[in-house]
Amino acid sequence: MACLVVDDEPRLRRVLVRLLEGEGFQCQEAGSGVEALQVLEQHAVPLVISDLRMPEMDGVALLREIVSRWPDIAVVVVTAVAEVESAVACLQMGALDYVAKPFHLDEVRARVTQALDKRRLILENHNYQQHLEDRVAVQAHRIEEVFLEGVQALVQALEEKDAYTRGHSARVARYATGIARQLLLDAEAVDTIALGSELHDIGKIGVRESVLYKPGKLTDDEYRHIMEHTVIGARILGPLMRDAPGALAIVRSHHERMDGTGFPDRLAGETIPFLARIVSVADSFDAMTSARPYRPGFVVQHAVRELQDGKGVQFDTVVVDAFLAAFADVTALPLPTPRLHPVRLPAHALEARRA
Ligand SMILES: [Fe+2]
Repeated sequence: MACLVVDDEPRLRRVLVRLLEGEGFQCQEAGSGVEALQVLEQHAVPLVISDLRMPEMDGVALLREIVSRWPDIAVVVVTAVAEVESAVACLQMGALDYVAKPFHLDEVRARVTQALDKRRLILENHNYQQHLEDRVAVQAHRIEEVFLEGVQALVQALEEKDAYTRGHSARVARYATGIARQLLLDAEAVDTIALGSELHDIGKIGVRESVLYKPGKLTDDEYRHIMEHTVIGARILGPLMRDAPGALAIVRSHHERMDGTGFPDRLAGETIPFLARIVSVADSFDAMTSARPYRPGFVVQHAVRELQDGKGVQFDTVVVDAFLAAFADVTALPLPTPRLHPVRLPAHALEARRA
């Protein structure tokens, strides 16, 4: 094993080198801290034995450099008896042991062996921790995947029941992430939007089917019941998504309106979570361009006009503009069903059916 002996007194250095070579070490030598650093930059050395008092760069400064640049090196400092305080300071800084001058060779031998043992234990512990952290990270990732697979299966099951909403969540995710990118939101926000969009209507599993798929006009009570899917969704996902409050906010607030008349909390303007405002536009656009039992899907131009008209009332103006910029080529949109003739519905009926 290689080691480095640092001392400005050549005689003492030789004594240490001879001793360590007798123990099977291959020794490098340095007369100062600066020289020692030059050696360490060139060679991988697991053990350094260093005097404290040296010209140019003393042992304390050398130790500080070693601890910050090569934390795996074991350092044993050599001190005069009068320097015990500095020796203790060195231990606090990361030296593994110290030897007081004048020293017995047996003592040096014992300290060096002990320091190397300590180093080995520290490295083993470090590797073990690293290994554990890696395993925990893999498991956490897997748990997240399983969770996503589970909720995606739920969304799919929900959409399978209703031909009119098939693929809705995936299209909303596509529109909403397109808006987010247009607004230059960071990758984390885009991921949050994707997750929130996939799950935004999950609460509909708690809505009575007779109401959810009712072909005719909804009563006020029925409309309110459908809108409860925002609260139900947030309640179902709440315990599972403590780490994803942004996505949860999308589930709860995607039917809020800028004018404060939305569901479920009647939030207005800036108080509506921004990501939910984005999903609201994406959701509305897809709902409008999807066919319903009681009407065909709107043509794109008509849906765009509805978004324009809803700026500042139902929708965030910035978000609508970003949507129109992101999907400027409306003919390239992944529309759900063949578009039929535009149908003008009264605004309140549109809102009710959008749920
Ligand atoms: Fe919804």
